[in-house]
Amino acid sequence: VRKPTKEDKFSFGLWTVGWQAADPFGTVTRPALDPWEYAERLAELGAWGITFHDNDVFPFDATDAERDRIVGRLKDAVDNAGLTIEMVTTNTFTHPVFKDGGLTNNDRSIRRFGLRKILRNVDLAAELGATTFVMWGGREGSEYDSSKDLGAAFERYKEGLDTVAGYIKDKGYDLRIGLEPKPNEPRGDIFLPTVGHALALIAELDNGDVVGLNPEVGHEQMAGLNYTHAIAQALTAGKLFHIDLNGQSGIKYDQDKVFGHGDLASAFFTVDLLVNGFPGGGPRYEGPIHFDYKPSRTEGMQGVWDSAAANMEMWLMLAEKARAFRADPVTAELLAEASVAELAEPTLAPGETVADLLADRSAFEDFDAEEAGRREYRFVELYHQAMRHLIG
Ligand code: GCO
Ligand code: MN
Ligand code: MN
Ligand code: MN
Repeated sequence: VRKPTKEDKFSFGLWTVGWQAADPFGTVTRPALDPWEYAERLAELGAWGITFHDNDVFPFDATDAERDRIVGRLKDAVDNAGLTIEMVTTNTFTHPVFKDGGLTNNDRSIRRFGLRKILRNVDLAAELGATTFVMWGGREGSEYDSSKDLGAAFERYKEGLDTVAGYIKDKGYDLRIGLEPKPNEPRGDIFLPTVGHALALIAELDNGDVVGLNPEVGHEQMAGLNYTHAIAQALTAGKLFHIDLNGQSGIKYDQDKVFGHGDLASAFFTVDLLVNGFPGGGPRYEGPIHFDYKPSRTEGMQGVWDSAAANMEMWLMLAEKARAFRADPVTAELLAEASVAELAEPTLAPGETVADLLADRSAFEDFDAEEAGRREYRFVELYHQAMRHLIG
């Protein structure tokens, strides 16, 4: 498979390759490099962009001067490497002050502090030319239901998001917010557990026009859901602003494996959608191919760079196979037999009213439901045709 190039628009969070692999049961297994060192290596591997949380780059308690110096150094390295800073996000989960969340903390003074930290970072994101501002509310949630006025929590969540979105619009920044759903971890239950929950909340916002989604593969799968369906619904809602690709094997802790190293078949159909679009056309995802994975704790620095490269290679291999699958005339025949294109045809004819439908005897009175119930779709053969391309 060919080498990744900048045209592939691959990007990585600094916290991915930079993860030192401390987990709840063990200490770090890898050294910390400076943020600019990761940027250089990622560029060498063929990445186009990087993303980061404020505190992946500078410490929580950095002075303004220290913050400017470190960010400046990173920006220089990024520019020299020909990379783009495409997304910036805020850490509102590591410091103990955020143990009950930022935007939905019971403590009002902490909510005000959290908002200030986020707004400060919105300015930084705009200054660095990022176009997406991810908001992953990892600590927004609870372990104990008695701990929260849940109604108020959702009101405060909306207030916080509207404040940040309104600020972006007032400032005229070319920036959109990508909410990142996750069902649990680190909280027992996190608010906005799935893409669907986030879409529903966005629809209630005053400034929801600049708020969309950054769905992560493993997070939908932790909820037992289908990632490809989730991004498809976000796409049709005009809300797929960004993606976090990684791998997950079933409903368990957040594994953050290499993309495709979890549910491979699901990854194939995700790539098929992102690369080929819906069979009948419609909205396409044009954003970065962003990886949010963690090199496993067993890996040393060689494993870090191997696994970073593996994400891109998985994408390229799957993209090649997905293109071949769609281009194959056998696939076209099976798609036709399955009536896949027919789903793009509106159920009512142009200009047809409900009254017309009610008057159409062929739609009901004369419709042979028994005969229609006997039709073949050959969905299994169509799927198997995809498997021929994937592993044949
Ligand atoms: C996770 C999350 C985080 C967020 C990131 C962006 O794995 O639980 O993906 O990694 O994506 O913090 O804010
Ligand atoms: Mn994750
Ligand atoms: Mn993520
Ligand atoms: Mn992650």
